[in-house]
Amino acid sequence: MTNSAPREVVLGVTGSIAAYKAAEIASQLVQRGIKVTPVLTTAACELVCPATFEAITGNKAITRLFEPLSNPEIEHIAVANRADLFLIAPATANILAKAAVGIADDWLSTTLLATRAPVLFAPAMNTLMYEHPATQENLRILKQRGCHFIGPESGRLACGTVGAGRMADPSHIVEFALTLLDPRNDLRNVRVLITSGPTREPIDPVRFISNRSSGKMGTALAREALFRKAHVTVISGPSEVAMPYGVEVLYVETAEEMAQACATRFSECDVFIAAAAVADYKPDHVLDTKHKRSDGPLRLSLVENPDILGTLAQRKAPHQIIVGFAAETDNLLAHAREKLTKKNLDFLLANQIGIPQSGFGTSTVRAYLLHASGETADLGLLPKETVAERIFDRVAELIKKRTATQGASSL
Ligand SMILES: Cc1cc2nc3c(=O)[nH]c(=O)nc-3n(C[C@H](O)[C@H](O)[C@H](O)COP(=O)(O)O)c2cc1C
Repeated sequence: MTNSAPREVVLGVTGSIAAYKAAEIASQLVQRGIKVTPVLTTAACELVCPATFEAITGNKAITRLFEPLSNPEIEHIAVANRADLFLIAPATANILAKAAVGIADDWLSTTLLATRAPVLFAPAMNTLMYEHPATQENLRILKQRGCHFIGPESGRLACGTVGAGRMADPSHIVEFALTLLDPRNDLRNVRVLITSGPTREPIDPVRFISNRSSGKMGTALAREALFRKAHVTVISGPSEVAMPYGVEVLYVETAEEMAQACATRFSECDVFIAAAAVADYKPDHVLDTKHKRSDGPLRLSLVENPDILGTLAQRKAPHQIIVGFAAETDNLLAHAREKLTKKNLDFLLANQIGIPQSGFGTSTVRAYLLHASGETADLGLLPKETVAERIFDRVAELIKKRTATQGASSL
């Protein structure tokens, strides 16, 4: 999320057994520099303690409608006006019902009527309560009214049953909240396809050839595109890094599988970013059984993998933007410029590897942005999140230019 302005979230905690997880949500939001005003319903106070939320957020927890009148800071209309987001997590069947029909009988439900900020509900309840036609109808009404929802998920519930009703993962809720809080929307309706992480080329059923790519850059790109309201699909090789909530992720293993997935999805995208470290070579033959020491030396013969970026760039439609990555230990800029030209890319991020703090698996990267026009911008050593921001600044600029040109030519 862009740090331009401090943001404020009203965290409504209602009387669900999942209320204790709201403390984790509050903590994650505070760690990201967001002001959190906790609001606990009477039922929530039976399950969790307001003091927990006060300690985590540094703000008074609102628990009663009438008490705050003496304090203009937390008077409900004032909070309704200044909040950037209302996040109700967990959201009981009761608060959904009240919000759907406009009942205002406590601080939270009253303020929900008074606010025009986006509202995000994370429902949590027993499966039968969730599936009840009344709850389903309330969800439908609230969605139609523009409220946002995350979950519930299916799984084992506190009441012992297994089914839908478990609150979404707190970190997913925070990710979604951050997307809603980010005011940028310059990629709204833009479909972004990103490749990420390494590929694995099998030698036998237990061994493979791979590289040190972690998937951090692809994840940072996906998150940035999401914050700017793009539709994001990631085709990822094996990676430990979790993709942000809201991204469609297709997992693949080999370069061949990545090439196939890209070929299927490429025509649907407006922006294609090839951030994956695709293995250039694979064994020409995969052994059916594990090669043992007793079988003697293992000799590998390697053949080239498909050139995913090169192949797709040939299918590029006029409206599409293609961004490449180059990671080199030597002659970085010369190799990068050659790749940019040969593959007819719109621009390319060149990444110096083999130096401290830059390259595969690190959180920062020594980066250069090479434009098709011939310019090269030295970005310096930057966190991967900032590199992702610069990349999408450039993408947004190109989209704007193209839209302006199309508009002018259709006059
Ligand atoms: C231990 C306990 C756990 C509960 N868990 C849930 C729940 O997960 N979801 C839900 O909708 N209601 C749950 N309830 C019922 C609500 O607390 C009850 O409907 C209450 O009126 C909700 O008020 P509120 O929405 O103002 O917080 C639970 C009740 C108890 C006693």
